[in-house]
Amino acid sequence: MKIVTILSALLFSHTIFAEQHQNVIDEGQALFMQYCASCHGELAGIPMNKRPAPPIFMVKRHYTGTYPDEMTFVDAMADWVETRDVSTSLMPGAIRRYNLMPEIVVERSKVEKIAAYIFNTRMNLPASFEHHYKRQHGLN
Ligand code: HEC
Repeated sequence: MKIVTILSALLFSHTIFAEQHQNVIDEGQALFMQYCASCHGELAGIPMNKRPAPPIFMVKRHYTGTYPDEMTFVDAMADWVETRDVSTSLMPGAIRRYNLMPEIVVERSKVEKIAAYIFNTRMNLPASFEHHYKRQHGLN
């Protein structure tokens, strides 16, 4: 009986945790649209060479390459937005191409939610980027 109680308590707390995590991801999506999408969003119709910044698909790809687990991924992304310290950049080519990301005034706790959203969501490559990307990475 006791075991059953403990197990259902565990299951219950796990469900609560999953729900809270989902809330963070949902909030992160809205915050991404508010603070990041103007530069990193799909920007339908804007040709690749007129984009202000790399699409979030590319940023995610670089960050998961170095930070494959959610905790370090979220931390690294929040650090980047806070400091934009070139010595920690994972995308030096993007800095050369687009210039350094400008300062974005947003609390770290919000960036952590944005990063959790990015980590847990499948990002798409904007159509205008696909051709270029596939050619560069030999996926054609
Ligand atoms: C005004 C345009 C703009 C906005 C808004 C913007 N960024 Fe960026 N971001 C850039 C540019 C340009 C780069 C590529 C150059 C670079 O890496 O600094 C970049 C690069 C990045 C990188 C890769 C950094 C590296 O070099 O390793 C991350 C991570 C990032 N942005 C996260 C965010 C997040 C999260 C937000 C929203 C809170 C955001 N950006 C909002 C322009 C923007």
